[in-house]
Amino acid sequence: MQKLTITRPDDWHLHLRDGEALKAVLPHSARQFARAIVMPNLKPPIRSVADAAAYRDRILAAIPAGEKFEPLMTLYLTDNTNPEEIIAAKASKFVKAVKYYPAGATTNSDLGVTDIRKCDRIFATMQQEDMPLLLHGEVTNTEVDVFDREKVFIEKHLMPLISRFPKLRIVLEHITTSDAVQFVLNANSKIAATITPQHLLFSRNALFKGGLRPHFYCLPILKREKHRLALLQAATSGNPKFFLGTDSAPHGRHTKETSCGCAGCYSALHALELYAEAFESVNALDQLEGFASFYGPDFYQLPRNPDQVTLTKKTWRIPDEVPFTDVGLVPLRSGEEMTWQRI
Ligand code: DOR
Ligand code: ZN
Repeated sequence: MQKLTITRPDDWHLHLRDGEALKAVLPHSARQFARAIVMPNLKPPIRSVADAAAYRDRILAAIPAGEKFEPLMTLYLTDNTNPEEIIAAKASKFVKAVKYYPAGATTNSDLGVTDIRKCDRIFATMQQEDMPLLLHGEVTNTEVDVFDREKVFIEKHLMPLISRFPKLRIVLEHITTSDAVQFVLNANSKIAATITPQHLLFSRNALFKGGLRPHFYCLPILKREKHRLALLQAATSGNPKFFLGTDSAPHGRHTKETSCGCAGCYSALHALELYAEAFESVNALDQLEGFASFYGPDFYQLPRNPDQVTLTKKTWRIPDEVPFTDVGLVPLRSGEEMTWQRI
């Protein structure tokens, strides 16, 4: 196949940051995606509908002239979120989901939830309002091995949560294990998952190839090859419970290449091409449109996009760095060749 035209996709998990960083990265997402679920882990986080409205305005102001892009906003759940905020969020129409970070799990999660049971009152309101819950599904206990944190979260927290709130719509975000795939397959129709390009293309070996590779470090961390294969199978299976969410998470070069580097892979520049390569590797390009453009809007009960994008078979080199703030930003797989290009 030399050319692939699909319905314009959306990104159901994206970090856009704020200020100069936002202005630098937003054009990349807007070129590829019509809409994105925008993560609320700013400093300070987006905790109220008023915060989300102001952040949305800043995003809209940063869209390059001539591009169309719709930010779908989220609220950051804390121990102190009020049920009234959920009702206001639903009424706002532009807040589409609420994000749960376990406190301390990842970038800017210090104000996240300290004990999931503390949020039952909120989950009850979300279930009633039909407001989706987006999960960073990892436990934070230091005694749990970093490679097992997703699996333990599913067993210890997610299964009981679903029993308590069987009608709550939940996205288990950026899944990384065959355990998560199995869990989602067995769960009721309210449960879906997003999958990133890095977890479809790389196993944890990529973190150590010829030396330590900080630009492949994200959370949840890359896992064994058998998990990558399970994710690839799920993404290309045509099952609508699995859809696209890049988790593109920009961090300036100096905050990645340092003694204690930040978690996050930057893929907004070339996300669709990366997914195309992953799907092509198992002869499943015919499944890309469903994964990238249909199942996400269907889950979020939004219309599918009316326009299309085209990828062509063409070799090009991913830049070593793209402009960001005062420092550069290193894209995922920088300096390597890609075989698909968006035209
Ligand atoms: O790798 C990650 N980066 N995982 C997250 O959960 C957060 C994200 C970020 O905001 O940088
Ligand atoms: Zn994320």
